[in-house]
Order: sequence, then C-alpha cells, then structure tokens
Amino acid sequence: MANFEIKSNQPKDTYLIAKRLGKLLGPNDVILLEGDLGAGKTAFTKGLASGLDIKRTVNSPTFTIIKEYQGRLPLYHMDVYRVEDSLEDLGLEEYFYNQGVSVIEWAHLITEQLPSENLTIYLYHEGQTARKIVFQPNGKRYEALCEELWNENLSH
Ligand SMILES: Nc1ncnc2c1ncn2[C@@H]1O[C@H](COP(=O)(O)OP(=O)(O)OP(=O)(O)O)[C@@H](O)[C@H]1O
Ligand SMILES: [Mg+2]
Repeated sequence: MANFEIKSNQPKDTYLIAKRLGKLLGPNDVILLEGDLGAGKTAFTKGLASGLDIKRTVNSPTFTIIKEYQGRLPLYHMDVYRVEDSLEDLGLEEYFYNQGVSVIEWAHLITEQLPSENLTIYLYHEGQTARKIVFQPNGKRYEALCEELWNENLSH
C-alpha cells in the first residue's frame, strides 16, 4: 500500500495531526517514529498523548528508555536512541501486548525486538519549521487507521 504524506509548516500542525491520530488509536497499537534528529518525534508524541486524553506533560525519555502515561489508554513512550546493543533484550514485549499504545523513537535501532505490524512515521526537515511527515502502515490494522485519518482530514 502507498504511504501517506503530509506537510507540517509549524509545530502546531505536527501536534494537531498527531492528536487526531491519537484519538483513533486502540489497545496494543504500535507507532514507530523515525527520521531526522530533532525533526519532531517527541513533539509528535506530545500531540498523540493529547489525543489519548493524557494531561501530564510528555517529555523525551532519553535517559530512561521508557516513560508511562495514563490517559484513555496507557501510553508507553520509548526512546531507544541511546541503546548501545541492538540485540540486548530490553523486555519491551510486555508493553506491546499490555492494552496500551506504544510509541518508539529511533525504532530502527532495535528492529528485531519490534512487532512487524506497526505504523511507522518518518519526520524530515524541510526548512526551519517545515517538516515532511510520512505515514507507512505495516499491516491491515494500520492501513485502515491511515485511511480513517486521511478521510477525516479531507473533511476538516
Ligand atoms: N513543523 C514542526 N513540527 C515539529 N516540530 C517543529 C516544527 N517546526 C519546528 N519544530 C521544533 O523542532 C523541535 C523538534 O524537537 P523534538 O524533540 O520533538 O525532535 P525529535 O525528533 O524528538 O528529536 P530527537 O531526534 O532528539 O529525538 C522542537 O523544538 C519543535 O518546536
Ligand atoms: Mg525525541
């Protein structure tokens, strides 16, 4: 299936698209965030959290690998940028199948430990505050999710 692409011109755009996605997410959904350093993976996660009705401020879990938040569903926010051994078992499976939503920044560093069905989102710099955001659904669940998100966007 083709990827879905959207342009973000400012942080608020990224926040809002992520928030819309967050509203559509269900138990055990897995979102992988990739792309340029500082492009907005954490910013995207903040929007996603808002769509999950999480009130606490979401910050990068860089020094802990994982942070957990409670909302409409639990959010497990992981950042594996500093993981040194990609094959070291981080024990993440217990999160993926625990009825929450998992978001993993720099996911490709630990590909082997991740569910093959996921929604991979790439963020790229296109200018000072311009970003290209590419949604790549891997699996039927995520294709349906992207279609729902896009159909909704067209009507707003
Ligand atoms: N259109 C935009 N979308 C998202 N962030 C933007 C945009 N324009 C500017 N920014 C800024 O870019 C920065 C993105 O930082 P953020 O920590 O979210 O990136 P990141 O991809 O998580 O970084 P890292 O690679 O360190 O994990 C923020 O300071 C944000 O305000
Ligand atoms: Mg980050």
